Amino acid sequence: MAISKSIPNFIMDRTPMTLERTFSIIKPDATARNLTGKINAVIENTGLRIVAQKRICWTRAQAEKFYEEHKERSFYRELVVFMTSGPIVCQVLEGENAIMKYRDIMGATNPAEANAGTIRKDFAKSIGENSVHGSDSPESAEREIGLNFDNSEIVG
Ligand code: CMP
Repeated sequence: MAISKSIPNFIMDRTPMTLERTFSIIKPDATARNLTGKINAVIENTGLRIVAQKRICWTRAQAEKFYEEHKERSFYRELVVFMTSGPIVCQVLEGENAIMKYRDIMGATNPAEANAGTIRKDFAKSIGENSVHGSDSPESAEREIGLNFDNSEIVG
């Protein structure tokens, strides 16, 4: 058709890009071992952009609220104690399919089951002390970002 001839190929051939944001935490076991820079290098090497980042200590109430979907699980109390045991680095990551891309490079929750080359395979100590968290869906990402960042702190 005439219309396709008038549109350059680089526009016609491009699959639509899904620019997403996901929420990330570098957990206390990783900040204690000074691994923030190494983990950030893995993130940036995949093409994800760190568009917000802050090193903080959660209160118990913040940790309980963040992980409230797990409150009936046997590990909930242990998880809250661990996540308030030291500094965490909260981040917003942005990129194409950021949610799935970050979950891929994090690896399985249990580092014993994580693929080679993933953050958890390389750095995590155990299923509880597993170095990083990433949102598992667009709804979770929106909730988790909103719990930890004001819009003005996110600079894309
Ligand atoms: P995260 O991705 O932050 O989401 C929930 C967290 O609960 C998970 O990573 C683990 O750190 C933790 N978790 C999951 N299963 C267990 C378990 N069996 N024992 C202790 N902690 C767990």
